[in-house]
Amino acid sequence: MGGATTAVAAVSATANTTASTTTTVPLLTPYKMGKFNLSHRVVLAPLTRMRSFNNIPQPHAIKYYSQRTTKDGFHIAEATGVSDTAQGYPNTPGIWNKEQIEAWKPIVNAVHEKGGIFFCQLWHVGRVSTYEYQPNGEAPISCTSKGVTPGTDGVDWSPPRALRTEEIPQIVNHFRLAARNAIEAGFDGVEIHGANGYLVDQFMKDHANDRTDQYGGSLENRCRFPLEIVEAVVNEIGSERVGMRLSPFAAYMEAGDSNPEALGLYMAKALNKFQILYLHVIEPRMIKLNDKYETPHSLLPIRSAFNGTFIAAGGYDRDDGNKAIAENYADLVAYGRLFLANPDLPKRFEINAPLNKYNRSTFYIPDPVVGYTDYPFLEVPA
Ligand SMILES: Cc1cc2nc3c(=O)[nH]c(=O)nc-3n(C[C@H](O)[C@H](O)[C@H](O)COP(=O)(O)O)c2cc1C
Repeated sequence: MGGATTAVAAVSATANTTASTTTTVPLLTPYKMGKFNLSHRVVLAPLTRMRSFNNIPQPHAIKYYSQRTTKDGFHIAEATGVSDTAQGYPNTPGIWNKEQIEAWKPIVNAVHEKGGIFFCQLWHVGRVSTYEYQPNGEAPISCTSKGVTPGTDGVDWSPPRALRTEEIPQIVNHFRLAARNAIEAGFDGVEIHGANGYLVDQFMKDHANDRTDQYGGSLENRCRFPLEIVEAVVNEIGSERVGMRLSPFAAYMEAGDSNPEALGLYMAKALNKFQILYLHVIEPRMIKLNDKYETPHSLLPIRSAFNGTFIAAGGYDRDDGNKAIAENYADLVAYGRLFLANPDLPKRFEINAPLNKYNRSTFYIPDPVVGYTDYPFLEVPA
């Protein structure tokens, strides 16, 4: 877990011999993740922004990502489709064809020009889709033919078609090719999206997976598809360029599991065999107890079982993040909504500056500026 042990608590240490006060902000301490020497631990979480018309990343994303880039910071791009069956929302980017690869290049270059490290999140929505997003208006594909209840999140989700056993290697291969394409586009690595109720998560969770072949039933069988993807991607681009995102405790899009603790632990241990760079896990939804937010399930057992870098995400603010680093609960903390609304979030955390509020109503609009690149930076006095 590398430099995690170098984290120190947020202390205001006054040297005996001088009157000066120095404060260490744990989130702003360096960390070595594989070959990457990160200058701080504030990660840009993957954030779908639905501004990639016709599944092609657009020039306005250059400014958006560049604004959020810090030198030797770690940034994860929004969920990006691995194939023409991978979409379920309007204007999400892909990385399965040449045009998309070329369109990503200037965006990746812009992040690199500012010294940032940039991974692409590889995504397949599975059954979280409708006929209109599928080639020839076909049924979305999944591990199951059980659909997400129409009306969930206000969408009339189409009933999926369960993949035949012999079709599964083809989907694994799409992830492999997408990883290769991401490297061709210049990304430093990829994050396999195994969270939030999408295809990989659908296979893992027993509320969604009702298969009777070797990809369903036991925990081992349900994790076979995700691990085959990991293996294929690792073989294609190397383990040091691969991370994985999981949300074992979430039941988003009706993909819950009856034993999330066992699922998380099983995956952490299985991923060790592939020596991937990092595991990125989303906290279970925080619940309010006696006016205090508490996390009902700790990620600590998963973190302890995994040998690589551990990233925690989900509902963190500056104090929670500092605590997570100081207590060695995580090596890095990913921020979604706060980073969306604060392009200079690491700087603001460093000096404990006030934060811009995010505007939920502009998260997913197609506007190339509004709610995207118009969140203000801190005004630094001249
Ligand atoms: C606008 C928006 C888009 C998101 N898109 C993605 C995505 O593409 N991939 C993903 O894994 N999670 C996605 N998430 C989840 C975030 O990465 C993150 O886990 C979540 O927002 C909780 O973290 P936060 O409390 O710091 O915002 C998205 C969240 C938001 C608000």
